Amino acid sequence: MSHPLKNDRYLKACLQQPVDRTPIWMMRQAGRYLPEYRQLRAEAGSFMDLCTNPELACEVTLQPLRRYPLDAAILFSDILTIPDAMGLGLYFTPGEGPAFHKPVRTKADVTALPIPDPNQELKYVTDAVATIRRELKGDVPLIGFSGSPWTLATYMVEGGTTKNFSEVKGMMYSDPAVMHQLLDKLADSIILYLNAQVESGAQALMIFDTWGGVLSPRDYQEFSLRYMQKIVDGLKRDHEGHKIPVTLFTKGGGAWLDIMAVTGCDCLGVDWTTDLADARAKVAGKVALQGNMDPSILYAEDDRIRDEVATILASYGKGSGHVFNLGHGIHQTVDPAKAGVFINSVHQLSKQYHS
Ligand code: CP3
Repeated sequence: MSHPLKNDRYLKACLQQPVDRTPIWMMRQAGRYLPEYRQLRAEAGSFMDLCTNPELACEVTLQPLRRYPLDAAILFSDILTIPDAMGLGLYFTPGEGPAFHKPVRTKADVTALPIPDPNQELKYVTDAVATIRRELKGDVPLIGFSGSPWTLATYMVEGGTTKNFSEVKGMMYSDPAVMHQLLDKLADSIILYLNAQVESGAQALMIFDTWGGVLSPRDYQEFSLRYMQKIVDGLKRDHEGHKIPVTLFTKGGGAWLDIMAVTGCDCLGVDWTTDLADARAKVAGKVALQGNMDPSILYAEDDRIRDEVATILASYGKGSGHVFNLGHGIHQTVDPAKAGVFINSVHQLSKQYHS
């Protein structure tokens, strides 16, 4: 059952088509800052219990949309579902983040990695996509996502979070061929995974390259951007007569927006260390931009939040092609009322930038 989309501002802005106001959603909009999320997670047992149960993943996806007038929903899942499906054994320890029982360290490890079938090992994800799409009833579009190959490789080789990326950069510098083999396998897995999300109902896609910004410019092109390019080339860009916009987000990648803009993606995520006016000049109309408020502004007074929204809207300027967002995920200690102030400010202040 397919519903006509009631609010398509987000899709239009990604494609640089005219809109009546700037659309907004928040990275990590479903999550720990919401008491209803914490309650459901406690009932379910764990974060992964939410992700692997399509009904619960759907409920959590919809929670922020019941509170706020957001212009998009994002699948509730994680970027580490692919390495988990490859058999690395994902687990989360409170306060320390994600980790793997079996990190990838050698050529033999990389060669042994399977390419997961999205309709088998990752069926819980495509089932969640289909369930959420049905329950959204056409209110707003649903964004599907994955991590970038480089970002997934950092977790897989390190075995968890890291401060200085010694294992993954060690592999990259001492045995680049093995690193390329790993990244290529990840790109192939991600293409299958994202296309399966589109088949199941995702109406837009986003690739999170959280750790591309820790690379030198040359290494960024060789080890991160090249594989995002491969993914963009392999994605289904139309489904059921609609375009599927693709957003690439390299955190800390402000210096590389010009080369990211020619990958064939539709939109680039920008963090708060780059001014949106500079970003817009750099991409020269080739792509839309998403961003870019510092999530920590949500700890400030209401007026300060409104001022920041006004500044960011002005820095992008008039016309379509801007999706308002935070420059990274919302922090878990933010007061949900502050997210409301933020979202309402974008609604109120952005109309004047569109005719
Ligand atoms: O944006 C959304 O609302 C959709 C859901 C989403 C999650 N993770 C839910 C989640 C998305 C898009 C992600 C992506 C993700 N996961 C990224 C890329 C974006 C980014 O933040 O840079 C990364 C690097 C991960 C890996 C990961 N998963 C980390 C670092 C953590 C936090 C660990 C911790 O304890 O702080 C997770 C867990 C995670 N993913 C949570 C949520 C809501 C928190 C889980 C919980 O304790 O309830």
